[in-house]
Amino acid sequence: MAVKPLATFTPFAPPLIDEREIEAVASALQSGWLTRGPRCELFEAEIAEYLGAAGALAVSSCTAALHLAHLTLNLGPGQGVITSPLTFVSTAHAIVYCGARPFLVDIDPTTGNLDPNLVRKFLTEECRLGGSGQPIHKETSLTITAISPVHYGGWPADLEAFWRLAQEFNLALVEDAAHALGTTYNHQLIGNPSLRPNDAPPGLVCFSFYATKNLATGEGGLLVASDPELLERARILSAYGISDARKIWGRYAPQGTWVYDVAELGHKYNFTDIQAALGLAQLEKLPQFLADRRERAQIWLETLAPLGDLVILPKDTPETAWHLFPLRLNLLRLKANRDQIFQSLRDLNIGASVMFIPLHAHSYYRQILGYPWGALPLAENFFAEEISLPISPAVSLSQIEAAATATKALLAELAL
Ligand SMILES: Cc1ncc(COP(=O)(O)O)c(C=O)c1O
Repeated sequence: MAVKPLATFTPFAPPLIDEREIEAVASALQSGWLTRGPRCELFEAEIAEYLGAAGALAVSSCTAALHLAHLTLNLGPGQGVITSPLTFVSTAHAIVYCGARPFLVDIDPTTGNLDPNLVRKFLTEECRLGGSGQPIHKETSLTITAISPVHYGGWPADLEAFWRLAQEFNLALVEDAAHALGTTYNHQLIGNPSLRPNDAPPGLVCFSFYATKNLATGEGGLLVASDPELLERARILSAYGISDARKIWGRYAPQGTWVYDVAELGHKYNFTDIQAALGLAQLEKLPQFLADRRERAQIWLETLAPLGDLVILPKDTPETAWHLFPLRLNLLRLKANRDQIFQSLRDLNIGASVMFIPLHAHSYYRQILGYPWGALPLAENFFAEEISLPISPAVSLSQIEAAATATKALLAELAL
């Protein structure tokens, strides 16, 4: 390879942490209260205000938020949820945790998001309408109760189309917004209640604060809901099923009480004040983080544009939060496949990733769902062509410039 490796490794998605976060966490540690407490309440209030939502529930992960979202909708055996194959397993795991079945429908390759037209086709051709007005899958006789679109890489799913389907077929919407803190749709942030039409079925939105995410607390997630009762139910289910979940941290206060009741089987999904301290510090910087991601995306876009049809660049729109920079390779025009190019990037000292191995490629989902390879060709092709490149604000502009220049030279060298 003629292209010279970078002098130092460019990591794929490091978090950006400075003194502000370190001081905030130290102060939480010194406060005498480590687990869910006042900092969590403050974080929930501030992030709800940022999103324009009436309330929010911070939990241990987006996986937990997705599970709680489906639980509050009473998802269970005999039911199914439509989702995208191009996602992390959490989206589907949350459905399976409830004893229900994920139904995979293919994507729109221009964004990587679940295609609402293909969802409509599935609902009208592979389902019949049941007595409840909800679709029943003809082959399995399972009732479809929800759609769970994923805002892949930060690009907003087509919410207008999904809400139309939700209203027409009486389906709830559980948005996987793990990548979409800061994403907008129709000029509103994902998670803002105005994106749901009045009188529509319930909607819940789940965010992730995992270490690589737009806002990072190490581990963490957030749930917002169309209905305060759903959020309250999720709060109880996130805290063992204790009927007044707020009492958990209040019980050691001077006026606290040791009395509590467990009204149903809940989980241990709470956020902690240490995570909330980190989250509050990160939230202050979120607008800058989003601007930094956009600036890094522009460098990649401008540097790789001269490669023409050797690659398909991600769609440049002001709506995306640029959680990922998913580059697609035109394999018909290149001498190497995705895995070989991935290895060459590693050899050049450029950290990258592949987002995602489609759900139905995992052995567990092959076993329980049985979709053959070829059943979801758009997601499968996307996977075969995709490499996610570094875009984190913690990677300096000069590192991104060097990585982009080396990537361009590598791909130009591999042109057929
Ligand atoms: C699309 C998507 N959904 C859900 C998750 C799960 O998030 P968490 O790690 O916070 O559980 C991830 C994590 O990377 C993700 O990428």
